[in-house]
Amino acid sequence: MSTTTNTTMDTVLIFDTTLRDGEQSPGATLSSAEKLEIARQLKLLGVDIIEAGFPAASPDDFAAVQRIAQEVGTPDGPVICGLARAVESDIRTCWESIKDAAKPRIHTFLGTSDIHLKHQMKLTQAEALERVREMVTLARSLCADVEFSPMDAGRTDPQFLIEVLAVAVECGATTLNIPDTVGYVTPEEYGELIANLIAETPGAGKGSGIIWSVHCHNDLGLATANSLAGVMAGARQVECTINGIGERAGNTSLEEVVMALHTRPQYYHLRTNINTKHITRTSRMVSNYTGIPVQPNKAIVGANAFAHEAGIHQDGVLKERTTYEIMTPQSVGLHASQLVLGKHSGRHALKVRLQELGYTVEGDALNQVFARFKAVADAKKTVTDADLEALMTDEFGGPQEYFQLCDLQVACGTMGMPTATVKIKTPSGETVVEARVGTGPVDATYRAIDAIVNMPNVLLEYSVHSVTEGIDALGEVTVRITPGKNIQESLQTFGGYGADSDIVVASAKAYMAALNRMIAALGTENIPAEGQSSAIGVGD
Ligand code: KIV
Ligand code: ZN
Repeated sequence: MSTTTNTTMDTVLIFDTTLRDGEQSPGATLSSAEKLEIARQLKLLGVDIIEAGFPAASPDDFAAVQRIAQEVGTPDGPVICGLARAVESDIRTCWESIKDAAKPRIHTFLGTSDIHLKHQMKLTQAEALERVREMVTLARSLCADVEFSPMDAGRTDPQFLIEVLAVAVECGATTLNIPDTVGYVTPEEYGELIANLIAETPGAGKGSGIIWSVHCHNDLGLATANSLAGVMAGARQVECTINGIGERAGNTSLEEVVMALHTRPQYYHLRTNINTKHITRTSRMVSNYTGIPVQPNKAIVGANAFAHEAGIHQDGVLKERTTYEIMTPQSVGLHASQLVLGKHSGRHALKVRLQELGYTVEGDALNQVFARFKAVADAKKTVTDADLEALMTDEFGGPQEYFQLCDLQVACGTMGMPTATVKIKTPSGETVVEARVGTGPVDATYRAIDAIVNMPNVLLEYSVHSVTEGIDALGEVTVRITPGKNIQESLQTFGGYGADSDIVVASAKAYMAALNRMIAALGTENIPAEGQSSAIGVGD
């Protein structure tokens, strides 16, 4: 076993679509500021291409893609790509949003399987070919870097697929992406499909300069295996997302593909440009901003990915790490010997540590985070990197705060009824206090918040976990809510994240973040009339 890489190995390009396909996950709505932060982190991670969004989908999407193109798409940075249906207005809008990037790319797609052509596109195969010809030509007239995807390629007639791809190449496409849109194919089938397409598509064989790309969904849990099979068959671009988030069961997980190639170079003989040490931080950022928790046993980035529980495993690892570990935690940015910052650490030490973790914090922002750090250090002997990351996300990662939590007090226990009192600053600057009882302290808190914010919603998911071990650990809470009075009313969901050494406070912060996101998405006109009550009402 070796983890060395060889620069003579072929490079697999990593195309990250967290901000486009990943954002299509239920509940993953991100603000423009959060998208920009994630894009900056993806650049640090070393991804080759960032698919920044679907600019024609809404003015907000357009603005977010444009800002990423301008601020992250520097000459030394990644290619900035926008998605466009094979429709003239989409392609022109896409180009407008990405053209300021040093390396822009238009990614256009058309459903090509019989099912998609008949039921969704209402096109014959001949009409689809014509559409591809016109739209790829248009995209290429605007941008030198054009990617074409025949959507649902996994279920498309293989002969027709070759015809479509040949037209795309003839019209100037530079990357051909083969989506298994519904996660239907198996690794053997997918590998064979990619090998055949490379061999049979006129103008796109080895040495043609065309990049073949894989894009797999995870409906059968095969996305990573399928992507690697595609790479073994000759694909040199993998489309993937951080934590594997995406439509339904998600996309190929970036960290799984990258670490497979990184851990098994003698098998794959391939490398990537990813700085694997940024994987953990990127994963946490995406999880915290989207409000989608990472399952504990998730490969590479799950909380248990490097934890050894069984006695025989612990014994083995203590004697020789490689007995049960195929990668080091350090290689993905987890620090085994966590640098100890404590209550005697000063502002400078904190600043330097944050810098090492990839955060540049100065002036007021540093004072703000230093105050939070001191509060944690007073309650907890040591403050770890994970604590600092949780604090940074809690302090700077949230949405615009229409409503702001000022104070919270709860009373609970075996005697009496759990009661919460909250003080919240409303969008007009007024401070309102409400109290409610509930089935527990979190329920009481959420009822008291609802009494002020008054945005009907259903709590779909609530999860709490500790950032590190020990009774004094910071608690992280993620929630997901959907607008309306019952689940059926809306398909939209909004996530929120909060961290604090008091989990009821973390719960309140997470709920406030989700509510503020909901308000941002539904429009400020939906905020109810101010200051419903400044009296202390109990129960409803
Ligand atoms: O899954 C899919 O087919 C897609 C395309 C738009 C590439 O996401
Ligand atoms: Zn997809």
